[in-house]
Amino acid sequence: MESIITSQAADIAKLERTGAHSHIRGLGLDDKLESRANSQGMVGQLKARKAAGVIVKVIKQGKISGRAILIAGAPGTGKTAIAMAMSQEIGDVPFTSIAASEVFSLEMSKTECLTQAFRRSIGVRIKEETEIIEGEVVEIQIDRSLTGVGPQTGKLTLKTTDMETIYDLGQKMIGSLTKEKVMAGDVIQIDKATGRITRLGRSFTRARDFDATGPDVKFVQCPEGELQTRKEVVHTVSLHEIDVINSRQQGFLALFSGDTGEIKPEVRDQINQKIAGWCEEGKAEIVPGVLFIDEIHMLDMECFSFLNRALEDTMAPVVIMASNRGMTRIRGTNYQSPHGVPIDFLDRLLIISTQPYSEDEIKQILKIRCDEEEVDMTEEAMGVLTKVAVETSLRYAIHLISTGHLVAQKRQAAKVDVIDIKRVYSLFLDESRSVQYMKEYQDEFLYNEIVAGQDDRMAVDQSTTST
Ligand SMILES: Nc1ncnc2c1ncn2[C@@H]1O[C@H](COP(=O)(O)OP(=O)(O)OP(=O)(O)O)[C@@H](O)[C@H]1O
Ligand SMILES: [Mg+2]
Repeated sequence: MESIITSQAADIAKLERTGAHSHIRGLGLDDKLESRANSQGMVGQLKARKAAGVIVKVIKQGKISGRAILIAGAPGTGKTAIAMAMSQEIGDVPFTSIAASEVFSLEMSKTECLTQAFRRSIGVRIKEETEIIEGEVVEIQIDRSLTGVGPQTGKLTLKTTDMETIYDLGQKMIGSLTKEKVMAGDVIQIDKATGRITRLGRSFTRARDFDATGPDVKFVQCPEGELQTRKEVVHTVSLHEIDVINSRQQGFLALFSGDTGEIKPEVRDQINQKIAGWCEEGKAEIVPGVLFIDEIHMLDMECFSFLNRALEDTMAPVVIMASNRGMTRIRGTNYQSPHGVPIDFLDRLLIISTQPYSEDEIKQILKIRCDEEEVDMTEEAMGVLTKVAVETSLRYAIHLISTGHLVAQKRQAAKVDVIDIKRVYSLFLDESRSVQYMKEYQDEFLYNEIVAGQDDRMAVDQSTTST
């Protein structure tokens, strides 16, 4: 028995994964939207965070839609991190995140893919009134027939402080009452439409009847007023979910498998009309959400012109983009443009730029990452790692944390020390050392195309962007 338990515990420990941005819990702003130096996992980048905070605020108020924002800056300056922080802050407004290269799929056209991403980012808040019965159980009486066969029947007496009523029970209700282990003295809630029973707790008035109550028993007041009350429930679904459920070919199961295929424009038109109707009647409300497109330079001319148009629609989300490119070729053309984004589209964007980090900020980010990955590191090792980060890149240094931890474990040390960092630094190359290595040994690699004298970094860049 014991061995089973320990193996379970090991499994659970393994499931706790840390992602690249798992330490980020929000933008770390105060009430006046000023950035705190180090809060919610975010460090530095004060201006960009504040700008992001302002945008989150207006999005939450539902005031803007159809705006586009570009976060531009050097690699590793926290563009994706800021977008992830925004998604945490945004609450129940839909947030969709895609990489621009996802648009180029064989299964559907580029515009269909973008349309789906747009519609995924627009929520519809649907208000529904449901009738519920809420009261304290006075008595449950279940009649069994003498033979033991045939349906059971019974009676349930419920009361509030003002009234008491007896309800007839059918087979199904008896089943759910037994399943929930409802007893006299419990305060319960019954959803009239579905028959679902929720136990809210035990009534205070009956508290003394049971001297042996467990610690998890919650005591509540006996409800006041009428037994039947109306309650408003609000769900938020995205337009895309409504599309998929209503397109007959796929059905709602496609939502889980993800292969929704192309959805006919007629279906979408009908849904738009229906929802416009609901909005007029006050049954629903449109919530423009956020669509985040990372690596925006991977989009081509057609996609940009689609975006131009789509952003002018009344039901458009706020589109946030990120790019680390400078002047580069627009995909599929020979024109150069800043961030690989056509000038006319660039003109519609609000641009937030991210700045390189100072040494101190890098150190704080690395510390946060150590906490996140549950790695203990000595102060000196942290100093060395910060130096490594300044000289190479923040990302490379972040990778050395978990690898350094492994090496330290190997020599059975509790803390990661300078020698562990040195060891992994020599085991794994950073970008500039790797380029150096390539230059020295290029003749031994396959497909070596670098012409002597050409700037090899540029050559790599061009071959990836020209497709
Ligand atoms: N201000 C910050 N506070 C805390 N962590 C940060 C901050 N900026 C970046 N990071 C972390 O540093 C790593 C690299 O940042 P990120 O991935 O956001 O860079 P990027 O700007 O998107 O780079 P690229 O242009 O290469 O996509 C991530 O793990 C990220 O969570
Ligand atoms: Mg990024």
